[in-house]
Amino acid sequence: MNLRYFLALGLIFICSYSCTFDKLDPSFAEIGICFETEILPIFVSNCSTSGCHNPMDREDGYDLTSYEGIMEGIKPYNVGKSKLLEYMKERGDDQMPPLPAEPVSSENISLIEEWINKGAPNTSNCESGSCDSLSNISYASDIKPILETYCNGCHDGPSGGGGYDLTKFSGVKQSANNGTLLGSVRYDPGYEPMPQNGGKLTGCRIKTIETWIAEGAPDN
Ligand code: HEC
Repeated sequence: MNLRYFLALGLIFICSYSCTFDKLDPSFAEIGICFETEILPIFVSNCSTSGCHNPMDREDGYDLTSYEGIMEGIKPYNVGKSKLLEYMKERGDDQMPPLPAEPVSSENISLIEEWINKGAPNTSNCESGSCDSLSNISYASDIKPILETYCNGCHDGPSGGGGYDLTKFSGVKQSANNGTLLGSVRYDPGYEPMPQNGGKLTGCRIKTIETWIAEGAPDN
């Protein structure tokens, strides 16, 4: 190979690398989907239970509790070539998470697809510091969505983590009343830090849960 040819190839390589790199990192403001608070929790809650895709067990080589780990099975801008999504959409013996777990919801699958189509960037620190929903907190519209995103993959029945079924109001109420709900999301000493394998909830979400419990944890 002569030198000029070699240099030209090098240039093409550098250019395509930096161009893809630019495309891969649009900010949260541009794409409107937050990896840290919207996408990561779907993987943590559905895929990282004990024996599965967490840093200790790494089932099938996958640790799905970090951006780097998740990107091993995601191809930016290419939903069809993103293996993790393929497994989530399978039904029957090959579905992920495996039976008898509930499949990932179609809303969450669409959200992951949208994120992939926008380049699957590692968007984080997406929330402004202000917490605007601390009055009239409702179980149905404020608390339940937090639990659905961050907790229900592991707490979806009586055999859920610690015996808490957080898909049912009765399970949430029990955990709110005995102090474990708040203790675990605040990482208070003496409680198991939750969500397990996932980052701590944002201050605003913790405050929302705290306020709802202080108001008597109503089914509103
Ligand atoms: C990846 C799976 C997973 C996720 C996600 C998860 N949990 Fe857990 N959770 C567990 C397991 C497993 C236990 C039992 C831990 C133990 O006893 O060692 C547990 C225990 C608990 C307990 C009892 C803690 C105690 O100290 O007694 C509470 C309350 C709880 N989880 C709430 C939550 C909430 C709220 C979320 C979401 C913000 C959440 N969990 C997310 C797996 C999970």
